[in-house]
Amino acid sequence: MKITMIGTGYVGLVSGVCFSDFGHEVICVDKVPEKIDMLKRGEVPIYEPGLDAVLARNVAAGRLTFTTDLAAAVDGADAVFIAVGTPTRRGDGHADLTYVMAAAEEIAQALTGYAVVVTKSTVPVGTNREVERVMRKVRPNAEFDVASNPEFLREGAAIDDFMKPDRVVVGVESDRAKAVMDEIYRPLYLREFPIVHTGIESAELIKYASNAFLATKISFINEIAALCERVGADVKSVAKGMGLDGRIGNKFLHAGPGYGGSCFPKDTSALTRIGQEHGVPQRIVETVIAVNDATKRHMIDKILDLCGGSVNGKTVCVLGVTFKPETDDMRDAPSLTIVPALVGGGAKVRVVDPYGRREGEALLPGVEWIEDAYTAATGADALVILTEWNQFRALDLARMATIMNTPIMADLRNVYGHKSAAQAGFQAYEGVGR
Ligand SMILES: NC(=O)c1ccc[n+]([C@@H]2O[C@H](COP(=O)([O-])OP(=O)(O)OC[C@H]3O[C@@H](n4cnc5c(N)ncnc54)[C@H](O)[C@@H]3O)[C@@H](O)[C@H]2O)c1
Repeated sequence: MKITMIGTGYVGLVSGVCFSDFGHEVICVDKVPEKIDMLKRGEVPIYEPGLDAVLARNVAAGRLTFTTDLAAAVDGADAVFIAVGTPTRRGDGHADLTYVMAAAEEIAQALTGYAVVVTKSTVPVGTNREVERVMRKVRPNAEFDVASNPEFLREGAAIDDFMKPDRVVVGVESDRAKAVMDEIYRPLYLREFPIVHTGIESAELIKYASNAFLATKISFINEIAALCERVGADVKSVAKGMGLDGRIGNKFLHAGPGYGGSCFPKDTSALTRIGQEHGVPQRIVETVIAVNDATKRHMIDKILDLCGGSVNGKTVCVLGVTFKPETDDMRDAPSLTIVPALVGGGAKVRVVDPYGRREGEALLPGVEWIEDAYTAATGADALVILTEWNQFRALDLARMATIMNTPIMADLRNVYGHKSAAQAGFQAYEGVGR
C-alpha cells in the first residue's frame, strides 16, 4: 500500500514509521519545514524510545520519506491518514478541529484517484462526516471514502503499542475502504491482534470513552489516596488489594499528582462538551476532571505543609517535569501547575529532567535547570519527586540526605516510602495516600 501520513507529531511519526516497517510505502508530511529537515537528516524531533532505529532502517530500505509538499505526497496514495493535533479549543473546552479541517481541504484538492481518508487524530463524534462534507464541497467529484482509525499508543512505549496493540479500531462504511484498511493492517491481523470493525461514530467514541475511563481510574485512586491519608491506610496496599480482582485490574491504579499529558486532559474535556451538546451530560467524567484539578492543588498543599507552611526563600529541588517518564512531552503535565505555584510562593526551584528541558524551558520560567539530581539537591531545603524517571527510582537517599540543607522529601509518585526515607536520614517524608 502507498500511505500518506499528514502530521509528524507523536502519533503521525510513530504510525508512519511503523506502517513502513510493515512493508508499506510511506510518505510523512508536515507543514513545519524544520521538522521535515531534521527527519530527512535522520534525526527524530521528539524523544520516543526506539523510534530512531526503526525510522533509520525503513529510510534505508527506501520505504519511508518525508516532505512538506502535501499535494505531491497525496498523489497516488491508497490511504491518506490525518494525524494532526486536536488540542483543546481556547475558551470552551471543545476539541479544536482547525488543523483537521485544513488538512481535509488540502487533501481534497490534491487527490488524484481513489483513496481512503483516514482520521487517526482523536476527534469528536461527527468529525469524519464533517471531513467528508468539507472534502465533497472542495472536490464534488473526487473519489474517496472516509474512515475512523483512532490511535491508542502510549508515549514512551509507542513503537511496541503500535506493533503489538491490544486492538485496532477501524470505523468504515464501504467495502472498498474496508479492503484498503484490512490490507494496511494485514501484518497485525496475521499475528491475531484483534481488529474491531465498527461504524464511524462508534469508532470515534471508542477513543474518547477509553481515555475517559482510564482517567476515571486515575482520579478514583487519587481520591481514595486522599482518604487513605486521613484514615491511616496505605493506598499502595489498597490498590494492590483492588487490582488483584480480575474485574478491576491493577493498571492505572497508581496514586500520584494527577493525570496530565497530551490526551487525558483534552479528551476528558472534549467528551464532556460532546455530552453537553447532545443533552447527555457525562457527569462522571465532569467529576473526574474536577478531582484531577483538586489532586494537583492537594500536591501543592502537601509540599507547603512539608516545608512548614511556606516555601518562601527556600530552595526546592524538583525531579522530573514531563507528564510521565520516557517522553519529552510537557503538554498539561502536573508540573505546569505545581512548579509555578512553588516559584510564585517565593521558592528557588531547581529542576532535573533528562528530556524535559527542550519543551519545559519556555513553560517553566524562573527555574534553574540542572543536569544531575545530586548537584541539584546540594544545599536544597526540599526534594520533590514529580516524574518517576528510572534515574530517580534508585537514588542514593543517604547521600541525598547528607548533601541537602534540610532533608525532606515530597515523593508524589510513591517511589520510596516512609521507612526507607527515614533510614536514609530524611527528617520528613510525604508520599501520596500513605
Ligand atoms: N500523543 C499521544 O500520545 C496520542 C495518542 C493517541 C492519539 N493522539 C491523538 O493524535 C493526534 C495527534 O497528536 P500528536 O500528539 O501526534 O500531535 P502533535 O502536535 O505532536 O503533532 C501534530 C503534527 O501535525 C502537524 N500538522 C498540523 N497541521 C498540518 C497540516 N495541515 N499538514 C501537515 N502537517 C500538519 C504539526 O506541525 C505537528 O507536527 C491528536 O488528535 C491526539 O489527540 C495522540
